[in-house]
Amino acid sequence: MDIVCTPEELDLLERIGNAAQAMQVPCYLIGGFVRDKLLGRNTKDADFVCVGNGIELAHAVADTYPHKPHVSFFKNFGTAHFNLHGFDVEFVGARKESYSEHSRKPDVAPGTIEDDQKRRDFTINALAISLNKEDFGKLVDPFNGIEDLNNKILRTPLDPDITFSDDPLRMMRCVRFANQLGFDILPETFEAIQRNKERIKIVSGERVADELNKIMQTDKPSVGLDLLYRSGLLKEFFKQFTELAGTEMIEGKGHKDNFYHTLQVIDNVAARSNDLWLRWAALLHDIAKPATKRFEPGHGWTFHGHDAVGEKMVPRIFKQLKLPLNEKMKYVAKLVGLHLRPISLSKEDITDSAMRRLLFDAGEDLEDLMILCESDITSKNKQKVKRYLENFELVKKRLKEVEEADKIRNWQPPISGEEIMQLFNLQPSRDVGTLKTAIREAILDGIIPNTYEAAYAYLITKAAELGKHPVHS
Ligand code: CTP
Repeated sequence: MDIVCTPEELDLLERIGNAAQAMQVPCYLIGGFVRDKLLGRNTKDADFVCVGNGIELAHAVADTYPHKPHVSFFKNFGTAHFNLHGFDVEFVGARKESYSEHSRKPDVAPGTIEDDQKRRDFTINALAISLNKEDFGKLVDPFNGIEDLNNKILRTPLDPDITFSDDPLRMMRCVRFANQLGFDILPETFEAIQRNKERIKIVSGERVADELNKIMQTDKPSVGLDLLYRSGLLKEFFKQFTELAGTEMIEGKGHKDNFYHTLQVIDNVAARSNDLWLRWAALLHDIAKPATKRFEPGHGWTFHGHDAVGEKMVPRIFKQLKLPLNEKMKYVAKLVGLHLRPISLSKEDITDSAMRRLLFDAGEDLEDLMILCESDITSKNKQKVKRYLENFELVKKRLKEVEEADKIRNWQPPISGEEIMQLFNLQPSRDVGTLKTAIREAILDGIIPNTYEAAYAYLITKAAELGKHPVHS
């Protein structure tokens, strides 16, 4: 079988072959490493299965390295693992395995290599290569994985209802592989996903999120997201997203299908940026459209406030999907909240103060926001797209000019809350916030220049209106 290994990989395979031979256990390279090598893709880990004790074999192999890498193992699962300069090496003993109805806790019994292959997820992931002396390098392929690999087909080795019920996450993996590798899902396999979709609920949110993020990181996430939608899986764990789908017609007026629009926006962003969280901002930018949708007679469909409502929905959705509740979440919420601002700047006769405000609000995320907004133009009308993009170019030019003059991005108002408290001998209070905001707003609105002196004079006037006077005067 033609797989091209690096000298280090070949060295590892020989060490494992020799150790297995010494222990008299047949051993095979299996899974993603074989698949990816055959497809000419990069590999970052390798799985080995032996007809015997995988943990003992892992220790024996680790011992052959002078630096003796640390072996971690799970006795219950019979799996062991060590890391070689960033490359993960996994071992398992061949098993017959079945999972009970309501949990992922497997009943494990030792099995043959074929037993082990048949309980793997897809035929292309069940391909094994022998590391045994008598037939080192020989492909072991009882389920015609090579044929499926060549025909770009995802098929389960067993009846898909069994394979998916053994581990329902495999339904997400199926969609992810279809997306990542550009494979088709066999119709019977896809129908089994539709039948078993509800079982995804027994899988931990973290594992689902992990697969979802892998889909989001592909070159064209729309392919995987659409498969998730059409299989019914998406609705099981991310109902709000599916609610964007469909269109409605009143008085002869329709609106676009916001689900497929969103998929297009994600692809547009993906073509320009690998940033997972910018892609998430694309996914969520219109998430509040169903909640804000109204039909205004004589006018048409509106989604007023979907930017602000969407921004508020982000933390709940991140929590629900087990995504990180950290600055990434804040970044996504911020972009969702701002996604209509650049377009509004391209429409009206825009003042510098509106430009300053966007610079201040977007700060260091301005370029990402512009990518999102440009990606949001999905009209099929080429003239329209051209006009919008030209308008955005004008907005960008104006933003650049205002930024050069005023240095508002990553800017802090010249007088801090601390200073206000000292000056007027105030405790932290609402008045301090009011005065701080008043200075900021006056500068952003261009009422006063962005200097300490102007801010100080303005502060004294505003404080006097609140009956406050500097303590030293
Ligand atoms: N596997 C499986 N069912 C799962 C997960 C994994 O049958 N739910 C099997 C497959 O044979 C898979 C192998 O275990 O090839 C290794 O799993 P993993 O490293 O998670 O996936 P890879 O196939 O290597 O692909 P990737 O690294 O892209 O996830």
